[in-house]
Amino acid sequence: MRRAPVTAPRARLPWWQRGVLYEIYTRSFLDEDGDGVGDLAGVVERLDYLQWLGVDGIWLTPFYRSPMCDFGYDISDYLDVDPVFGTLETFDVLVAEAHRRRIRVIVDYVPNHTSDQHPWFLESRSSREGPRSDWYIWRDIRQDGGLPNNWLSLFGGPAWQWDEQRQQYYLHTFLREQPDLNWRNPEVRHAMFDVARFWMARGVDGFRIDVAGAIMKDPDLRDNPANQQPNPSGAFGSTWGAQLHVNDFNHPDAGGIWRLFRTLVDDDPGAERVLMAEVSSEHLPTWLRYYGDRLDGFHQPFGFHLLHHDWARSSPQPVVERVEAALPRGAWPNWVLGNHDQHRVASKAGPERARAAMLLLLTLRGTPVLYYGDELGLMDVPIPPERVRDPWEWTVPGQGRDAARTPMPWDPSATGGFTRPGVQPWLPLGASGRGLDVATQSADPASMLSMTREVIRLRREHPALAMGSYRSLDAPEGVFAYLRRAGEERMLMAINFSGGAVDVAVRQHGRVLLSSTMDRSDSFACELSLRPFEGVVGVLES
Ligand code: GLC
Repeated sequence: MRRAPVTAPRARLPWWQRGVLYEIYTRSFLDEDGDGVGDLAGVVERLDYLQWLGVDGIWLTPFYRSPMCDFGYDISDYLDVDPVFGTLETFDVLVAEAHRRRIRVIVDYVPNHTSDQHPWFLESRSSREGPRSDWYIWRDIRQDGGLPNNWLSLFGGPAWQWDEQRQQYYLHTFLREQPDLNWRNPEVRHAMFDVARFWMARGVDGFRIDVAGAIMKDPDLRDNPANQQPNPSGAFGSTWGAQLHVNDFNHPDAGGIWRLFRTLVDDDPGAERVLMAEVSSEHLPTWLRYYGDRLDGFHQPFGFHLLHHDWARSSPQPVVERVEAALPRGAWPNWVLGNHDQHRVASKAGPERARAAMLLLLTLRGTPVLYYGDELGLMDVPIPPERVRDPWEWTVPGQGRDAARTPMPWDPSATGGFTRPGVQPWLPLGASGRGLDVATQSADPASMLSMTREVIRLRREHPALAMGSYRSLDAPEGVFAYLRRAGEERMLMAINFSGGAVDVAVRQHGRVLLSSTMDRSDSFACELSLRPFEGVVGVLES
């Protein structure tokens, strides 16, 4: 694979390449109807905020009909909105109002599994002969009485559930309420492609594909081999990590499906839709495959490379360099610091490094995806046992994701302005009054929110930041310094992830446009002094 060239960008890049994306965990953004759960009308209500912040696109986590065993990732009707979130009409309003503000809308698409309440599954389980009998992955009990193979559910226990009705096992990579669809059956593919057509016709600007690497399994469902080097602190814990997931994840046959899906998404070039994949980036060569051999796969596999970075120990520079070096020519990077499945970055990195990390996210080459609330420096919220909602916490204690999914605090009140006074939100909010809310931070020019907004504004103003090339610079330990360049414009970023003051030799003249502490706009010559955890965006003078 060739290293990405250091050249001027094409004059015009698609919106998702230039822009900033923002993930909305729909249940937790704003509760408009007062039932304690966020909804689509709440998102509409806050589009002005998102426009003010300057984001170009939002990704909405699932709002489809669902029994909510996995909070919307267990879908019982792909073509309707769950009443808890609103109606199809509310969704149409959302798209129209977002587009009016030049904000694109990306929706979640969950291909690997449905809810066990989906009519397809109800029909499939009803008989071994019916028209949908082969829409899911059914297997007989083994002759020796054992399970069909050794695969595990990510949510704990075996991936097989016995079904009394069919007298067979079905496969579920996640909860037993989330049976896996059989994508080797062309009828499933047609039905699922129709789902995408339905939402494209309603005006969506792209899809975030849930567990894109799981849709195709080994056709013979062979056992996974044992992992000889298990990593107990790995992404999904020790049991899951005890196997190499070579037969249940990342099967090469998925590539063909996603190439077809890409042609579907690209069928109207004027629409400039984006196709993004949730795939693990732990193993770079496997992750890179999702771009497609001829960049004909996903526009962007999510870049999770920084999710497990230990911010307190080191600068993220080696992580970024590794990705930049591995990307084939023309592949556009993607970066995230958090999402609805991970601990909040401010909890992992601490509030000061979280600011530095945000500055990094918004100035690296690639598309940044901001997780709602990270612009405030929101932290994980401790969840008392009686308020735990995530089923993963029950099956594998410690893996629960509630702490990072808590309601968005819009103001300093007890309900954070998320829901009506007196209503208990579906998850608790963090302690109020610590300045971690939109009202307080938008009134403070030095807040993390103000900084985030200002960096986004700089991206719009400076093509080098939004689209330019990337080159790292030598810097003292703990500091990550890099240049972004477009045409004559050269921008310098120097970010100090360490707790000590440092001087960075830059051997150039320039001007600081922004500091993460929002209190400086000085000129520099040859050297740039950084305070602990300070990051700056500068422009170099020729
Ligand atoms: C993805 C989602 C996660 C969900 C799982 C099962 O990893 O991000 O929230 O639980 O898929 O659909």
